[in-house]
Amino acid sequence: MTGSPQKHAAAPRAYRFRRHSVFVPALAATLVAAMVAIASTQHRAPDTRGDERRRQRFNHDNVLHDEDGGENRRDVRDPTEAPTGFDNATNGMDPQGPPYDSLDEDTVVALRSFNDNRFIFEEVETIDDGLGPTYNGQSCRECHQNVVTGGASQVAEHRTGRLLQGQFFQSLGGSLVHSRATHPDITELVNFEDDVRTFRISTNTLGAGFVEAIANGTLLAIRDQQPAAMRGTAVIVPVFEANGVARVGRFGWKSQHASLESFSGDAYLNEMGITSPLFPDENTSTGRDVTSYDTVDDPEDDGVDLVAFANFMRSTKAPSRGPITDEVRAGEAVFTAVGCATCHVPAIVTAPPGTRVNGGAFRVPAALGNKVIHPYSDFLVHDIGSGDGIPVLPTPEYAETANQMRTAPLWALRTRNRLMHDGLSFTKEEAILRHGGQAAAVRDRFNALSESQKIQLMRFLDSL
Ligand code: HEC
Ligand code: HEC
Repeated sequence: MTGSPQKHAAAPRAYRFRRHSVFVPALAATLVAAMVAIASTQHRAPDTRGDERRRQRFNHDNVLHDEDGGENRRDVRDPTEAPTGFDNATNGMDPQGPPYDSLDEDTVVALRSFNDNRFIFEEVETIDDGLGPTYNGQSCRECHQNVVTGGASQVAEHRTGRLLQGQFFQSLGGSLVHSRATHPDITELVNFEDDVRTFRISTNTLGAGFVEAIANGTLLAIRDQQPAAMRGTAVIVPVFEANGVARVGRFGWKSQHASLESFSGDAYLNEMGITSPLFPDENTSTGRDVTSYDTVDDPEDDGVDLVAFANFMRSTKAPSRGPITDEVRAGEAVFTAVGCATCHVPAIVTAPPGTRVNGGAFRVPAALGNKVIHPYSDFLVHDIGSGDGIPVLPTPEYAETANQMRTAPLWALRTRNRLMHDGLSFTKEEAILRHGGQAAAVRDRFNALSESQKIQLMRFLDSL
């Protein structure tokens, strides 16, 4: 990489979607290639039925929907700052307001207030509710709590698999190894031959509704402006509540989901063992059928909880900043000058209110649309040499994701003391020094900074 610090100085402006984006054809070509790849998959790794379903849903009818707000665009005024705060208060989204085209009337009637939705996110589930047979936690809040419900936490889960002739195979029952079970005989244990292993710690969901409201085209535009040597990859994933329509992924350490309802269904099943219409099949225990340990009929949730989880997260404020002093401002200038901001993008504008996102299943509400957020991420995945070797799915079209990780959003960084996907970096300095690969040149420029510049940069990071 030959870019000078000046070259990166242009990065921190707010990106927004442009009409008639030139990126869509390129993406469509990528999608077709991916689908051909899916269609030609002969030898599949053993995995969960949920993954199989996910693959089936990602079918030939998929198209990447144009997420430009259409005629609404003309009405868009200057974007305003998204509300921020760690205060358990709503960002103003009316949970009864936005149209849910994918839901039947009963579900729409069941839409609840912010506090009711938060309560459901906090609720501790029991075996009678469908918890297990294998699971990682009893409530969403158990892992998403710091410093308020919805934040990140130190709770880590593990994923394992193995490489055979260069191809990744998930552990029996899927790469996610559940750490708990409802009966001692069905705890998932790791096979010693599964030596591709990682921890993944729990991420922040505060402000996630704004992230969901970013148009595909905005993320693709960020990608296309990154210098070739640092260019991120947009992970294209199915939106489950829209029958597998493709969207640019943005949630999770690998940007493996694009919608909060889809992520909620995935989490309800894979973290808590609770099935829903979007994820109706129970997990196995290391490949062993354990349905006899499960007394509740599937789907254990009728889909209403998924909407409550999604709407809770959509209604949260974005993380707020600490005090912004002169030193902090100087530190941000250093952050931009060395090129951190090329990936850790400081400002993004969400799609206009009314824009149909999530394959048409959700329309951006007024409280979330045309807002400036400061996530310090591009929501793309990069190979910075820290990859965990585990792709989004063990299929050819996702093979590249094995060693790519989403640019960790740095908002709420000051609430976390275990860093990087595995939580194994104890300090910011250690996290920065783990940046290699696509970030190697930036890390070298960081190393070349004077002591006082480094201190300024650290003060800036401490303000996030
Ligand atoms: C046992 C801990 C645990 C529980 C319980 C849990 N999560 Fe998570 N959550 C995680 C971890 C770990 C990640 C990151 C996983 C990854 O990307 O591989 C995550 C990521 C997420 C994300 C992505 C946020 C982002 O942008 O990175 C969302 C959304 C989410 N969880 C929602 C939920 C919901 C809703 C529930 C309850 C149904 C839930 N989680 C229960 C541990 C948990
Ligand atoms: C090429 C893109 C890229 C560049 C440039 C980059 N980063 Fe990162 N950064 C990432 C990715 C990807 C991760 C997540 C890696 C992982 O979890 O394994 C990350 C993670 C981090 C983390 C850990 C955050 C957390 O919540 O765990 C910090 C802190 C960080 N970066 C700071 C910086 C700083 C400071 C710079 C500039 C010196 C920088 N990064 C440059 C892509 C980048």
